[in-house]
Amino acid sequence: MSTAKTDTLPDPSKRDFLYITTATVGTVGAASFVWPLVDQMNPDASTLALASIEVDVSSIEPGQAITVKWRGKPVFIRNRTDKEVEEARKVSLSELKDDEARNKNIAEGGATDRNRSAGEGKENWIVMIGSCTHLGCIPVGLAGEYGGWFCPCHGSHYDTAGRIRKGPAPENLAIPEYKFIDDTNIKIG
Ligand code: FES
Repeated sequence: MSTAKTDTLPDPSKRDFLYITTATVGTVGAASFVWPLVDQMNPDASTLALASIEVDVSSIEPGQAITVKWRGKPVFIRNRTDKEVEEARKVSLSELKDDEARNKNIAEGGATDRNRSAGEGKENWIVMIGSCTHLGCIPVGLAGEYGGWFCPCHGSHYDTAGRIRKGPAPENLAIPEYKFIDDTNIKIG
């Protein structure tokens, strides 16, 4: 896929934070705003053309993330550090506001870190639709009380596995259908 823009975003931890979007669909802004979801209903030809995308994630270091656009929506791809994975694993389902995995790649299951991550050998990777489950704003990465994502619209905090931990959002960030097609490329959709 083409890369239109790579920026460094401000974040409290001062780690580099890549922000990438496809050339055909324009730049995804860092500011929080409501993402139109109308394309979910009757996709036109251009949307169908983006039914699936492939993303090279080889340049994303641990602690970094990118955002790509897929079917008109932002998708977060984050390479988590070992510490972030470890912290996410320590959380029991009883602590969660939403204990469903919300992962299209598994039949069903609880929102364990394993069920939310890219799976065995790829546990550091997490891929999610970047739309707050409250009213659809785009959460900010590497932010919030749980070090995951923070939605400034009404104050929802997600952890490093994208699980809602605090605030009005009712569900964990949704995980789209995706898979690693080789060691460094992800196919979404
Ligand atoms: S849209 Fe995210 S908290 Fe309301």
